[in-house]
Amino acid sequence: MSVVKINVLTVPAERREELEQRFSGRAGMVESSDGFEWFELLRPLEGTDQYLVYTRWRSEEDFERWTQSQAFQRGHAQASTEAAAQGQQGQQGHGHAAAPHQGPGQGHGHGHGGPAATGSTLWSFEVVQSTGPRNGS
Ligand code: HEM
Repeated sequence: MSVVKINVLTVPAERREELEQRFSGRAGMVESSDGFEWFELLRPLEGTDQYLVYTRWRSEEDFERWTQSQAFQRGHAQASTEAAAQGQQGQQGHGHAAAPHQGPGQGHGHGHGGPAATGSTLWSFEVVQSTGPRNGS
């Protein structure tokens, strides 16, 4: 069963453009990660300042492997450098400052992550049903 992992980024109105530019220049490494199924950057239309970074994975293990991989670190290299420069890196670290935080479930919602996002939260879901349009309708 696939799992959906959504990183919710709080982005002030004046930083939206910057965030989207960051994503247009993203590393593009997630596409080659084992078990990766889908990615979308979702821009809020109204009523919220939260962007959704939607990802879908074959399994929880595949997602976790990606968050611990070089692909994740490189995909977040810039965000991480900035967070570190602002002294917002986690206190214990794991010997490197490559990821904006040390893994899912830690450090969310504390206003770190560089200039564009002021906070982040990870949402996890299991895919119960999934469909697309019928052909030939
Ligand atoms: C503190 C937590 C996080 C922050 C602030 C953050 C922010 C960002 C930013 C700004 C980028 C654009 C690249 C860059 O500027 O470096 C990015 C890339 C990305 N983020 Fe995050 N992120 C975080 C954690 C996560 C998590 C837990 C996920 C899991 C759903 C995720 C999914 C992605 C994906 C798929 C990309 C594109 C990477 C690629 O193209 O290979 N992020 N993130």
